Amino acid sequence: MEVKRLVESEIINEAMIWGDSISKEAQQSLITSLQDAIALNGVPGAIDFCNIQALPILSDLSQKYGVQVRRASNRYRNPSDQPTDEEKPILEAYEFNAENGNKSDPNIQKVENGEVFLYTKPIVIPGGMCLSCHGDPKSEINEATLQKLSQLYPEDKAKGHKVGDLRGMWSIRIPKSEVVKRL
Ligand code: HEC
Repeated sequence: MEVKRLVESEIINEAMIWGDSISKEAQQSLITSLQDAIALNGVPGAIDFCNIQALPILSDLSQKYGVQVRRASNRYRNPSDQPTDEEKPILEAYEFNAENGNKSDPNIQKVENGEVFLYTKPIVIPGGMCLSCHGDPKSEINEATLQKLSQLYPEDKAKGHKVGDLRGMWSIRIPKSEVVKRL
């Protein structure tokens, strides 16, 4: 049996590709479920869906791949999405770029003595659909939705956004051992 020698740069490259694909899958499955929930129960009803289902959808995906998928934001709605000490400087760099009109790219950092890769990618508000829950509370979010939001998220900081705004970031912890298995 031939033992494959792996160069560090190949491993990082693979972690980047995998992080991109997991974050896309996560985004897709949240958006699909959200659209279904809105179609079924309307926007205020879909708040309950996000409240109950958003985190479990991400933990199912995490289990499926042996990684940890989450979203982090300084303008969080769910307080559990506040950035960790590791995530903070990366999120601040994305915020700095957004404020200065620069584009941000996905990023990989080594954490836990290089045993884990922290993949991050900015989440930008892609379209008007998001604004029915994250837009202007006076003109874009309806009364019933505002009520639901204040009931479930008394500390909500995730309103007042526009299309194109930085909303937060994907944050995926990928064990190096899982990346190596893929090569
Ligand atoms: C039906 C209302 C609704 C819509 C529409 C909606 N969201 Fe949210 N969003 C929520 C709720 C509720 C949470 C908190 C979820 C939780 O408790 O885990 C949330 C959380 C988030 C978070 C996690 C960070 C945080 O603030 O806790 C991000 C990122 C996010 N939304 C982005 C988006 C984007 C991008 C869109 C459009 C594609 C969108 N949302 C559309 C209701 C909505």
